Amino acid sequence: MEDYKAQASKSGASKSSASLGKLILKNRSYRGYDNSFVVRRDQLLRIVETNTRIPSARNTQQLRFRIVTSEEAHKVLPHFRLGGALPHLHLPHEGSEPRAFIVVCAVPPTDHYTYIDLGISAQTMLLQAVEIGLGGICIGAFDKEALKASLELPLDPLLLIAIGKPAEKIELVSISADQSHTYYRDEKGTHYVPKVRAEELLIE
Ligand SMILES: Cc1cc2nc3c(=O)[nH]c(=O)nc-3n(C[C@H](O)[C@H](O)[C@H](O)COP(=O)(O)O)c2cc1C
Repeated sequence: MEDYKAQASKSGASKSSASLGKLILKNRSYRGYDNSFVVRRDQLLRIVETNTRIPSARNTQQLRFRIVTSEEAHKVLPHFRLGGALPHLHLPHEGSEPRAFIVVCAVPPTDHYTYIDLGISAQTMLLQAVEIGLGGICIGAFDKEALKASLELPLDPLLLIAIGKPAEKIELVSISADQSHTYYRDEKGTHYVPKVRAEELLIE
């Protein structure tokens, strides 16, 4: 084990695993964005391009992506909501809405594996967003039919991903599995996300 660690650190492997840890930590679900920052199409393209390097069950690669920049944000904004666990906050706040999106669609027929591919794709894209100084959120609570019509999508949308320059402070809180998993905010607006501690994720 020690030999392996020494080898890994010589080859730079330990350095890169440390930065992956930082990216994962920074990759929170952001519901408020700095609207003075405009996400460019090439940034969204770079994020989508990660899909050419990720796994896919049976390598079917059924996922397709529609990029939405700020000029078209009005076609998306009415069709989703954020922060279902904090309904009194009416998120996103006016003026801090996300204004860039990646709509993930799939070529039919879809099955169980399509959704596994979707998860891998979404997390990979969000990590890439964080690496280039942005952040985002997966949005499942959107009106699929309305979004499909509004963007004239040729395929059914499975997931909406918002991308922007995050303007929120988010902290993780370690909990046991039997405590509440519901995220919450304090009076200063800091957002807290409970995460079940590692020992309790293991089963015998
Ligand atoms: C598939 C998926 C769908 C989600 N849909 C929504 C959503 O519709 N609205 C929302 O506010 N957050 C949504 N989220 C974000 C989760 O609420 C968030 O991941 C969770 O609170 C944990 O926070 P974290 O991502 O910062 O760890 C979604 C996340 C995933 C993975």
